[in-house]
Amino acid sequence: MDIVSTPAEPQNLQVADAAPPPPAPAVIKREDYLPPAWLVPEITLDFRLGLEETRVASVLQVRRNPAGNGTDTLRLNGDQIAPASVKVDGVAIEDWRLDGPDLLVPLTGEAHEVAIETIVNPAANSQLMGLYASNGMLCTQCEAEGFRRITFFPDRPDVLSTYTVRMSGPKAAFPILLANGNCTASGEGEDGTHWAEWHDPWPKPSYLFALVAGDLVANNAHFTTMGGREVELNIWVRPGDEGRTQHAMDSLINSMKWDEEAFGREYDLDLFNIVAVSDFNMGAMENKGLNVFNTRYVLADPETATDGDYDAVEGVIGHEYFHNWSGNRVTCRDWFQLSLKEGFTVLRDQLFSAAMGSEAVKRIEDVRILRSAQFPEDSGPLAHPIRPDSYQEISNFYTATVYNKGAEVIRMMRTMAGPDVFRKGTDLYFDRHDGEAATCEDFVTSIEEGTGLDLAQFRQWYSQAGTPQLEVELVHEGTQARLTLTQLVPPTPGQPTKAPMPIPLRVALFDRASGRHDGEQLIVLDKVSDTFVFDGFASAPVISINRGFSAPVSIQFERDPDDLVFLAAHDDDPFARYEATQSLVVQHLVAAVGGSLSDAQHRAGRAAIGEAFSAVLTDPALDDLMRGELMILPAGSYLAEQFALADPARIQDEREALKAWLGTECMAALTALHDRAVAVPYGRDAAARGARKIKTGALTFIAAADPAEGARRAIAQYRAADNMTDRQGAVMVLASLDAPEREEALADFRQRYEGNALVIDKWFSLQAGSLHPRVLEHIRSLANHPDFALTNPNRARSLYMAAAVNPVAFHDASGEGYRLIGDLIRRLDPINPQTAARFVPALGRWRRIEPVRAALMRAELERIAAEPSLSRDVREQVSKSLG
Ligand code: TRP
Ligand code: ZN
Repeated sequence: MDIVSTPAEPQNLQVADAAPPPPAPAVIKREDYLPPAWLVPEITLDFRLGLEETRVASVLQVRRNPAGNGTDTLRLNGDQIAPASVKVDGVAIEDWRLDGPDLLVPLTGEAHEVAIETIVNPAANSQLMGLYASNGMLCTQCEAEGFRRITFFPDRPDVLSTYTVRMSGPKAAFPILLANGNCTASGEGEDGTHWAEWHDPWPKPSYLFALVAGDLVANNAHFTTMGGREVELNIWVRPGDEGRTQHAMDSLINSMKWDEEAFGREYDLDLFNIVAVSDFNMGAMENKGLNVFNTRYVLADPETATDGDYDAVEGVIGHEYFHNWSGNRVTCRDWFQLSLKEGFTVLRDQLFSAAMGSEAVKRIEDVRILRSAQFPEDSGPLAHPIRPDSYQEISNFYTATVYNKGAEVIRMMRTMAGPDVFRKGTDLYFDRHDGEAATCEDFVTSIEEGTGLDLAQFRQWYSQAGTPQLEVELVHEGTQARLTLTQLVPPTPGQPTKAPMPIPLRVALFDRASGRHDGEQLIVLDKVSDTFVFDGFASAPVISINRGFSAPVSIQFERDPDDLVFLAAHDDDPFARYEATQSLVVQHLVAAVGGSLSDAQHRAGRAAIGEAFSAVLTDPALDDLMRGELMILPAGSYLAEQFALADPARIQDEREALKAWLGTECMAALTALHDRAVAVPYGRDAAARGARKIKTGALTFIAAADPAEGARRAIAQYRAADNMTDRQGAVMVLASLDAPEREEALADFRQRYEGNALVIDKWFSLQAGSLHPRVLEHIRSLANHPDFALTNPNRARSLYMAAAVNPVAFHDASGEGYRLIGDLIRRLDPINPQTAARFVPALGRWRRIEPVRAALMRAELERIAAEPSLSRDVREQVSKSLG
């Protein structure tokens, strides 16, 4: 697409007026990568700040890239901006031109100074990309392609520059002025203005640029690095929120310490700032020395944050901090390499959280996320490899596949090498690529050379999409146990056939009589099919396979329920123990939903589950955090994955019926558990947290079996609560009940937390996520609530994402749930396309749903597709979902 405008009247160049008819979507391909023609070793930026008008003067020192293609044209990306002036080497030029959104500047020499002025309106920026206003403060979000909404620049991650930033503005509105690196100078200006100058000594790509200006207060602390550097730490929040920042600060300090010990990584500036912002598209952003966070991953105190919220704060603080090395010091060559920083950083944050708390519980939680979010992605129309080959809009590729499966792929290398040897690989990677924009291939090569592993075939994990299905067969003959494994990597869009992948499996074979095994082994299936022979078994052993979830695969193994009950009781790998319990339930529910069980089989299946469940409730050897984890039934979305065509209503009904049955069967144990947990006073220690987890866990089963007793206990738990975990748990249970206690709790909750945005988000989610028969009605009226706003992503998601993942609401037989999400996408797209596009995958699952609902879902996608001016974000997701 070459839409060339002449620079006759640059001031009048309004992009809206100049907008051409929607172009055919451009597909960016990984194989088309070319090094930049021009480099920008240095940039200085001068911001004159205003909420409605900010003037940006940028000066680029540009230099021909010897590795470039030699073109005389400097291409600077832009997006909805126009140049107010362009100078080359100090002289205004007229022969620049626009190519679509990009600015093209003709240059003749080897090196030049290019100066450009732009004017932006942060208050009108509802996309929250580039420079925008949030609650009267100004902040930036530049990843992936937001910098081009501020000024013209080669906005690609392989152009690294040293940034010097000056900003000035009214001191009353913006008392605090922050940017990357260190503050080098500041002072007062005229008419109540002030200014500050910041310099970041570390060359970085534009996506890591950040600026924040506003009325903020800091929780301040210090950290001394292993090399003796004194680092000042600040967590900046709006006045009044500082009392909820200590957990974030503790998490930051723990992250810094842990990265030194676990990966040998030390912080590299004298200052580390974190700013909490209430309007934010994602979780947080790792801008060099100035992380910007969604408030929900910073603010926590017992009164307003659940234990889950505390864990999320710790995890995200760690994640962004760890990016300082895996992302910033070593960055990505292009956006196809996103998993280079995200997959690795997710693995690092997972290991960190595991080290801070319970390793076993953390692993179970990570696998649950993978199965409920990434497996469906991998089996749907938006499936892509962890290193995609093409995209239309890169924002659509910040996915569970790139992040979570990306982490699993690196974890497999770590499992095969062993943690200590793996460390040699990461040391080599950091050492070799420090200061560079690297590729996934660079990473694998470093791990290969550092560890001595041969990863030639392993690279398939980077290029092939789809969750491998692993068929397992165990035959016992004489003294031998023969394990036959067969892998099938399913076809995905653009990848009809697949090569076999190396699948590392931790296995153990248990002797039935003693309940023991002779040591775990690591086997690697690297062919389509292979048989592994184990000797020395007089009788058939029970196999524990994929222990610790050593490979992100789906195991197809029709198991004798007795074996699963055996493993649920005896397996010494806590993940495998969890897995056995889950498999028991999954196998039963899938058969029940499929209608293949006789009444007797149905009863026997439930009896086996009941036995395992009651052992979980009463086993004194389990700690309560693990007990609470084992009590969670498999997610509906994971169950749906087990069917070629899922009937969400039947899955939901069977799952709920099992919950009620377990509640009835185990009522005495459940009420005893609830009573015991209620008596434990609030604390942040594992025992108290475990008590809170089983408290609400037990309550869910009690309420499913006996709604009146559930309501009675829930309202008592609510009234007695001195913390958000108990309060939210009680409201969650009550929200699904048709009981007077429901209204009492919801009304009190809203009133009590009036004005606390993060807690009011919970109030919306709890109702939109409920299993109440009139949930759709509730959602529609909440959408008109005065506290509801589409412009705030947290609030929009609190209502609509909760609805989209709630099978009762979303899959309502009327199709009204689909209409709700379809309407939302169409209304949100013009405001915030990135957030709108995140709702498309829910509808995009239609091919895997029973035909009546599938037709309704598809019709909704078609209604969206018919919109005349869809964003690139939503257009890509919708067209792929229909394709
Ligand atoms: N890099 C961020 C992370 O830590 C992701 C991110 C934050 C992001 N904000 C964004 C990605 C906006 C795209 C757009 O994972
Ligand atoms: Zn990240």
